[in-house]
Amino acid sequence: MTAYITTPIYYVNAQPHLGHAYTTIVADTYSRYRRLCGDTVRFQTGTDEHGDKIVEAAEKENKQPQEYVDAVSAMFRQTWELLKISPDNFIRTTDPVHIRTVQHILQKVYEQGDIYFDEYSGLYCKGCERFLTEKELVDGNCPDHQTAPREITEQNYFFRMSKYQQQLIDHIQENPEFITPERYRNEVLSFLSEPLEDLCISRPTSRLTWGIPLPFDRDFVTYVWFDALINYLTGIGYPDGEDFQQYWEVAEHLIAKDILKPHAIYWPTMLMAIGLKPYAKLHVHGYWNVDDTKMSKSIGNVIRPAELVEQYGRDELRYFVLREMSFGLDSSFGHDAVIARKNSDLANDLGNLFSRSLAMLHKYCGGVAPSPGGQREPSDILLIETAEHMLADYRKYMQIFQFHKGLQAVWELVSQANKFIVVNEPWALAKDETKRVRLDTVLYNLLESLRLLALTISPVMPETAEKMVRGLGLQEKTDLTLSLTSGGRWGLFPAGVSMAQTAPLFPRVDVGEKIKKTDSSKAGPETKKTAEEGLITFEQFKKTELRVAEIISAEAVEKSDKLMLLTVQAHEQRTIVAGIAEHYSPDELIGMQVILVANMKPARIMGLRSEGMLLAAKSVENGRERLVLTTVSAPVPNGSSVA
Ligand code: MSP
Repeated sequence: MTAYITTPIYYVNAQPHLGHAYTTIVADTYSRYRRLCGDTVRFQTGTDEHGDKIVEAAEKENKQPQEYVDAVSAMFRQTWELLKISPDNFIRTTDPVHIRTVQHILQKVYEQGDIYFDEYSGLYCKGCERFLTEKELVDGNCPDHQTAPREITEQNYFFRMSKYQQQLIDHIQENPEFITPERYRNEVLSFLSEPLEDLCISRPTSRLTWGIPLPFDRDFVTYVWFDALINYLTGIGYPDGEDFQQYWEVAEHLIAKDILKPHAIYWPTMLMAIGLKPYAKLHVHGYWNVDDTKMSKSIGNVIRPAELVEQYGRDELRYFVLREMSFGLDSSFGHDAVIARKNSDLANDLGNLFSRSLAMLHKYCGGVAPSPGGQREPSDILLIETAEHMLADYRKYMQIFQFHKGLQAVWELVSQANKFIVVNEPWALAKDETKRVRLDTVLYNLLESLRLLALTISPVMPETAEKMVRGLGLQEKTDLTLSLTSGGRWGLFPAGVSMAQTAPLFPRVDVGEKIKKTDSSKAGPETKKTAEEGLITFEQFKKTELRVAEIISAEAVEKSDKLMLLTVQAHEQRTIVAGIAEHYSPDELIGMQVILVANMKPARIMGLRSEGMLLAAKSVENGRERLVLTTVSAPVPNGSSVA
């Protein structure tokens, strides 16, 4: 299959920040994922270089616009290199080929009568580079820029956008996946329930010269959005290029919610006027805030990706943003959260698994991959099943931009493989010559898990995956076991290959070490979801049944460092398997009244039945996760409901 994924082309009036980096990391990860599936992929990003805002920014730096845009555009490109983001095409709206394409389209749409000349008065927001409707204002101000728009009356050219309104509504309704997540599709449909105005697509040269001249009237330049959106066509060689035929019908645009309207309304109607099918999909994500506040230059909390790379590493940053943000919702950035993820998910869970396994392979097998043998034991079956589920969930979620869920699935295998070591105690097997076959099987299973992990993390953390692949003795470019199509199943690790000695994958961040404070790095508490979209209704909350329960017995679960088996008394008695063994001793727990989630589906954890969950506060202290059980402030009858 073929894929064409684009990011917005970023304005060069600001340097790249975390928000730009997020979208571009997502696009890069998705491209790498699709390539791993054997697809032919084209990934495009670039810079948007015309318009008022750019002229103003250049003036502030005492530069000519061209000199200024060259410098900032180069900065974007360098940042993407630093983040190991590899677009196939980096487009600039000042590229001559783009200017020709925009003029070609303007001429075509003008000749067919969809562009007309008229006088217009409206409220113009310079920050948005567009006229706003009265309805969009909040207390008379633009909601995005908190400034009052200026009333402007001038003669201009207009695109008959209204003519395509119904066609667009029909298209959105007939294609449920055209705009996702659904909340944004609904937002667009709700906007379209009101009559659409035509779009002003020119600026008189008396007011602005830094733009693409209209081919049919040299006294005007093209409005930046009409210019910028066309980049998605220019980049694949519209109208005559071969790539255009191949890629246009699969075009997927990736944006944040701030530019939904131009992408969901202006652009598809423009395409209809050009006589092209609308793009295939629009994926809309939320906003990164910083410690729950909007990122802004004036507040001085702008997060620079290059600084994060320096502090935490590039793969660590890529992993963090994809694991932390639920695609579609807002997220709040905090340094503590990055450190916690790096130390816990990466250094502890994945890093240790890799180092321990390879150390044992070198020690017990001379660094040569063994073959499995003998009967499969329950722990083998559990590991293999976890790997197979992981592969299925991973593919399901990566395909639909639910990266945090894809990664969660991968970490299920990481965690199961770590448990597999604890349960099988290879060091004990190694002491007993009669257990040689079992030892080989255990180590083979670990190698196979690591291969599947290297494979699945590679779109997110390409460098770490490369290190793992090298450590495992596989050949990155040629080994078919490293493609999802030919290698995405259990049991393919080539026995007999020699493993290399490797350094740890992730150096830990010492939390005691002072976090380098930039003007932006006010380290905050754990990352929270702040978006209003993330909120639940009372009806949804009511579905969770919380009850007071008393712990009447507690014992550690054999072969697990984390789990404890509890019996609790609510109205009835229940058994609960809780991950609190590192935080409490059994004695401390007996008699404690805790809060039970009483309407959970029972689950089996390490073969034990767990009939609910307990609430606990979770924090990160000195780089370690700490859990403190939630209790009641005075004794109450067991089984009391918590409202
Ligand atoms: N030039 C236009 C886009 C034209 S596309 C044909 C533009 N540029 S921009 O520099 O303002 O970039 C906006 C995009 O940057 C967002 O849609 C998003 O991809 C990214 N982000 C900017 N700030 C962001 C956050 N705080 N959080 C997440 N992403 C954000 O609009």
